[in-house]
Amino acid sequence: MSWRIKVPATTANLGAGFDSIGIALDMYLFIKVSSSDKWSFVSHSAHLKDVPKGKDNYIYQIALKIAKQYGYEELPACHVELFSDIPLARGLGSSATAIACGIELANLLLDLHLSNHTKVTLATEIEGHPDNVAPAILGGCVIGYYDGEVDYVKVPLNNLVFVTIVPDFELKTKDARKVLPEQFSHRDAVQASSIANVTTAALFQGNWPLLGKMMEKEMFHQPFRKALIPHYDKVKEILKDDVYGVYLSGAGPTMIALAEEAVVTKNMQKWRNQLSECEWLTLHPTNQGLEVVDGY
Ligand code: HSE
Repeated sequence: MSWRIKVPATTANLGAGFDSIGIALDMYLFIKVSSSDKWSFVSHSAHLKDVPKGKDNYIYQIALKIAKQYGYEELPACHVELFSDIPLARGLGSSATAIACGIELANLLLDLHLSNHTKVTLATEIEGHPDNVAPAILGGCVIGYYDGEVDYVKVPLNNLVFVTIVPDFELKTKDARKVLPEQFSHRDAVQASSIANVTTAALFQGNWPLLGKMMEKEMFHQPFRKALIPHYDKVKEILKDDVYGVYLSGAGPTMIALAEEAVVTKNMQKWRNQLSECEWLTLHPTNQGLEVVDGY
C-alpha cells in the first residue's frame, strides 16, 4: 500500500475577504506514504526539518482525530516522507496543507470514501475558517462561509501573477489574531462588508484594478496587523506604480501583489534589489487542489 498526496499552498483574505476568500497557488507539500510496522515521518525539505518524527507529528494527529470521529481507535502504521516548498507560519497556508493531508491519510487508510465537501467541512472544523483549507482541497479561488456548516463557491481565475514577498521571520496566526478588535460599530461593519462585497464582485469580473483598490480600503485586519509587519509600508511603496494591489497574505507576514506577467518579468529584479532581505517569488493560481496518486 503506497500513495503520494500533493496539496497546494494557499493565500487567504485577498484584502477584505477575511476568513472567507482563499486561492490555491502553485507551491506544494508532497507526502509519500507507505505501509510500515510503526509510524514514522522523515522530512526532505529545509522548511520541515524540525517537524516531529513520530506520533506527535501534526499530520498524524489530524489523521487520528478523523479516525476517531469515524469510530476507529487507531490507524494502520505508515512511513511518511515529507517534501515541501511552503515556508511555515508565513501566511501561505502551511497548516491547511497539513490538515488536508491528515484528513486524506485517514480517508485512504480507513477507506472512508469522504467526498470533497466532507473533507472541506472536517478541515474547516479544525481550522475554524474555510479560507485556506477549502482551496487547498478544491483548488482555485474559493469564497466560503462557516457557522458549523460550510458553504462555498469556486471562482475561475486567469492570467494573474501573485508576486509573493516572504520575510525571514515567522508570525503565528494566533498572535496575529490577538491584535484584531473584538467589535465593530454597526456603521463600520456596514462599511467593511461593503468593501468585501465589492472585492467579491471584482474577483468574479476579473476586475483587478478594482480588487486592488478594495485591498487598500480593507478594514477587517490589515490596519491592525501592519504594526506586526516591519516591511509593510516599504513593500507598498516599492510596488505602488506597477501592480494592481498589494495585500497581507492570510495572517502575514508574507505580502502578495497582484500583477500582469509582463510587468513582473520587467520589474522583478528592480523590486528585489530594493528589499533583498525578503524572498521574492512568482506564484500562479492553480485550479487543482489536493491530489492522490495511488502507488508511486
Ligand atoms: N483568515 C485567517 C487570518 C488566515 O487572517 O487570520 C490565517 O489562518
